[in-house]
Amino acid sequence: MGPSSVWNDAFVVRVRVYRPGDLDACLSIVRGLPEFFTAEAVEAIRDDLGRHGGWVADAGEVVGLAVVERRSVAVAEMLWAAVHRDRRGSGIGTRLIEQVLGALAGEGVVLVEVKTLDGSAGYGPYASTRAFWERRGFVQVDRIDPMPGWQPGSPCALYVAALGTTRSKLG
Ligand SMILES: CC(C)(COP(=O)(O)OP(=O)(O)OC[C@H]1O[C@@H](n2cnc3c(N)ncnc32)[C@H](O)[C@@H]1OP(=O)(O)O)[C@@H](O)C(=O)NCCC(=O)NCCS
Repeated sequence: MGPSSVWNDAFVVRVRVYRPGDLDACLSIVRGLPEFFTAEAVEAIRDDLGRHGGWVADAGEVVGLAVVERRSVAVAEMLWAAVHRDRRGSGIGTRLIEQVLGALAGEGVVLVEVKTLDGSAGYGPYASTRAFWERRGFVQVDRIDPMPGWQPGSPCALYVAALGTTRSKLG
């Protein structure tokens, strides 16, 4: 097999809408990332998947998930995103998020927010998370500390991506 037959991991991954039967696989992915998701967060993800549904990256087995809450006709929040720890850094998250953002844009969403741990926390693992969102076009618009509902010492970085313009809606 020559180099041309080497497939990028993301290439064989299909992004599809979450189904209730994906729950255990999704929870297993986030439980496998304890430096990112506390036990409390895992339970919140369970609730949010039940409430909002989401999308999964399916490579024969579920290898990634994204959970989105619609805030209004034009605004959505990316509540959770994760890729199986053994598959991180191979393009799956990019493919997942790009498809989710495309679906949201198609439904008329123009702004998408995501909250993550701010750099001032000095906690290493989230540096790659912030880099990921920034590479996907998210811009940090604020730092919130303390963030209601988050553990003390966990400053929030509020990121926003524009999928369309808001100005054209002005009269
Ligand atoms: C963030 C996450 C969903 C991205 O998915 P992924 O499949 O790893 O991402 P991709 O391979 O598509 O993109 C990797 C990008 O992440 C960043 N990155 C840096 N170090 C990384 C690492 N060790 N592993 C993964 N991504 C890393 C890079 O910016 C890279 O971007 P580039 O290749 O475009 O330059 C995934 O890594 C993950 O589950 N992280 C832990 C949980 C988390 O932080 N979730 C988001 C909470 S807000």
